[in-house]
Amino acid sequence: PEQEALIVVSNRLPFVLKKNPLTGVVERKSSAGGLVTAVAPVVVQCKGKWVGWTGNFYGPNEEPDYIPEADINDKTPTAGIKADQIVPVYYDKTHFNNYYNGCCNGAFWPLFHSMPDRAVFSVDHWQDYVAVNKLFSEKTLEAIHGVREGNPTVTPLVWIHDYHLMLAGNTIRELSENEGIAVKIGFFLHIPFPPWDIFRICAWDEDILMGLLGCDVVGFHIEDYCLNFIECCHRRLGCRVDRKNMIVEYGNRHIRVRAMPIGIPYSRFVQLAEEAPRVIKITTETVILGVDRLDYTKGLINRLHAFEKLLEHHPEYIEKVYFMQIAVPSRTDVKEYQDLKEEIDQLVGKINGKFSTANWSPIRYIYGCISQNELASFYRDASVALVTPLRDGMNLVAKEFVACQTGDPGVLILSPFAGAGEMMHEALLCNPYEIEEVAEALHTALQMPLEERAMRMQGLRRREKKNDVTTWMHMFMQAMESKLIKPDKSI
Ligand code: UDP
Ligand code: G6P
Repeated sequence: PEQEALIVVSNRLPFVLKKNPLTGVVERKSSAGGLVTAVAPVVVQCKGKWVGWTGNFYGPNEEPDYIPEADINDKTPTAGIKADQIVPVYYDKTHFNNYYNGCCNGAFWPLFHSMPDRAVFSVDHWQDYVAVNKLFSEKTLEAIHGVREGNPTVTPLVWIHDYHLMLAGNTIRELSENEGIAVKIGFFLHIPFPPWDIFRICAWDEDILMGLLGCDVVGFHIEDYCLNFIECCHRRLGCRVDRKNMIVEYGNRHIRVRAMPIGIPYSRFVQLAEEAPRVIKITTETVILGVDRLDYTKGLINRLHAFEKLLEHHPEYIEKVYFMQIAVPSRTDVKEYQDLKEEIDQLVGKINGKFSTANWSPIRYIYGCISQNELASFYRDASVALVTPLRDGMNLVAKEFVACQTGDPGVLILSPFAGAGEMMHEALLCNPYEIEEVAEALHTALQMPLEERAMRMQGLRRREKKNDVTTWMHMFMQAMESKLIKPDKSI
């Protein structure tokens, strides 16, 4: 039978590697973000290779010279990934500044989230984007050689992830065709794909589309993003497209475009929630929870204003409710992120100053990354999750919250501008730009009778259980016409 071997390619590896300059020991430190949460279990299940960046650039003596195995006490899914599955990519400082901070996070991140005013385009940054995509493609070719060693009949199944690597599909195809190696290449975008009138603002729109069309399958979270992509291929490249069957013709190839909404490792979160010790002390106060990377797409400023409005309109909540926001430091070398951090610090201070009493503060703000074991406990014990991004590809926090709601059912407040808002209908959907509306949704959530909470939560949990990360992986394998992993449940 035909054999396949999975090679995942993404900018971020599931851990950052750093050598302790004193002991010489290289340490793994987990990375946060939706991509890692979903892709790590796939790599574990398929025993795949993972080509990715080690998460740092290094000072003298800091560059890791080997990949360590996981610590024996590490119980996260990432621990299941062996050192020989990792194909590391190292950057120098210029790559880090121009490619990662500049092009990926200074230009493409805001543009793809339909916030073009925040995007900064620079030719230098783009040139390094091209160079780093080439570097990843070459590393992937090494991995392709690796999986074929000893068995040249194995077909490499290359799965590229996210906006950092939109040119890699084409280059990997060329490099392997030059050597006469047949590969299957798929791409998945973890963020939204914007409409044509936004996408065309980018000076390199044509290169990006051609890079993506080097793949056999291009996947997005929801159908809207697929249709945006198809429209761009049609209008920018003049491709023939079939919107009904979601096919783009390019050269003599037919590229399949597919909506494959990502899911979470649902049962793992349920188990974590069942086992996690209490972190939030048992008090009479009700907890409203927010969990996000500190990112302007997450709507944190609007969210804080909405909570302030709630306390203004409903002073009965004073000393009865508090808002706990966990904000993970992210992309801290990019100015927009530094400015946002300042703004949040000030606003939290202002609101706390305005409403605090001798024994109570309205906001608990954690600026730091928390392990998913601990997060599970927060998710379980919160009464309301406030997930109000201005724009978000999917948003896994919403899904993790419902998975962990194993006790007294809470309420999910969700933005319709997150991919998750398309499917999680039982949530309280509200527009994050409408501050008053969010404040009212909070009030509704805090007053919601048990019966209604239970009914909504049951619907939400059932859907996430069914459409978990394994379902997502099967959708991808099916679109790739792969036999690597057969579905063990109907999808
Ligand atoms: N996360 C984490 N520690 C934290 C906060 C978040 O590990 O302190 C994880 C969280 O469990 C989730 C991911 O980061 O899996 C965030 O994914 P999401 O899709 O919500 O947003 P993204 O960061 O990818 O934009
Ligand atoms: C989002 C992106 C991922 C990224 C993550 C964390 O989920 O889609 O590609 O890994 O954010 O961001 P970072 O820049 O730290 O990798």
